[in-house]
Amino acid sequence: MQEQVLIDTAQAMLAHGKGILAADESTGTATKRLASINVESTESNRQAFRNMLFTAEGIEQFLSGVILYEETLFQKADDGTPFPKLLADRGIMPGIKVDQGAKALAGAEGEKVTEGLDGLRERLDEYRKAGARFTKWRAVIDIGDGMPSDYALHVNAHALARYAALCQEAGLTPIVEPEVMMDGAHSIQVCEQVTERTLNKVFAELKAQNVLLEGMVLKPNMVISGKSCPDQASVEQVAEATLRCFYRCVPAAVPGIVFLSGGQDAELATAHLDAMNRRGPHPWTVSFSYSRALQAPALTTWAGQADNVPAAQQALLQRARNNGAAARGEYSKDMESAA
Ligand code: 13P
Repeated sequence: MQEQVLIDTAQAMLAHGKGILAADESTGTATKRLASINVESTESNRQAFRNMLFTAEGIEQFLSGVILYEETLFQKADDGTPFPKLLADRGIMPGIKVDQGAKALAGAEGEKVTEGLDGLRERLDEYRKAGARFTKWRAVIDIGDGMPSDYALHVNAHALARYAALCQEAGLTPIVEPEVMMDGAHSIQVCEQVTERTLNKVFAELKAQNVLLEGMVLKPNMVISGKSCPDQASVEQVAEATLRCFYRCVPAAVPGIVFLSGGQDAELATAHLDAMNRRGPHPWTVSFSYSRALQAPALTTWAGQADNVPAAQQALLQRARNNGAAARGEYSKDMESAA
């Protein structure tokens, strides 16, 4: 196993004050995002949106990597450069989402398991040749009546570990993403309990399947109140509960935790990350790998119009800069108006 390659890539992904842009929406999710700005989801519109993101000036100061979807990995920028090369030339590592989505879990109504292991070894080979340096696989854990079951947690953790082991064999650093969803009226305490159960299962499977912890990156949810919970936890409560949970569950050998935003308001996701880093130093780097919380303002500003590209790129740069500051524990609310 090429251990040093895995470790070096993980360290580069976790460069100080930088995070990862998740731009790996599947065609289905990209279609939803484009529909929200009344843009048809054609291959060329998806390319145009990603081209706007990836050519934004200055983002390389705050982004160590970008996670791509398979379609984008093989697409070209407007000037004909393949997207992975364009990013790598800017000092931003290209990564690739390799799972094939969360599907209904047999015998467990309402629960899901992520698919995509069959043929993965061969696909990884192609992705590496196309320039990918790291990978991502997302497990979806829903909170509800009697959910998640131990069964759902087990199969999702098992699949995450199988994926991670295959990626490490191929010299690609895996992002292990178990996402406990924000949807629901549950309290932050319930989110903490479920996140703890989830992480314990995930790390037990990673260990059982000999995954090198130093050569992976964890991408979890923050511990927060359910979206429709009437009693929303404060920024300080989120930082405290999230860190307590991760100190209990995540071995110090893991080099970094890059949080997903999960549908949080963009500025709130930044404030949460900042509050956690102000409580540092921690055993692992604590940074971001947001999709919506980085892209949403750029998406609405762009609205599918070429004339809006410079303003949309400024909106992305502002979120990247502010989250870069939060990754160092140096964000302040004034930075939002200073744009
Ligand atoms: P959000 O930040 O929008 O949750 O997306 C992160 C991600 O990659 C989900 O898989």
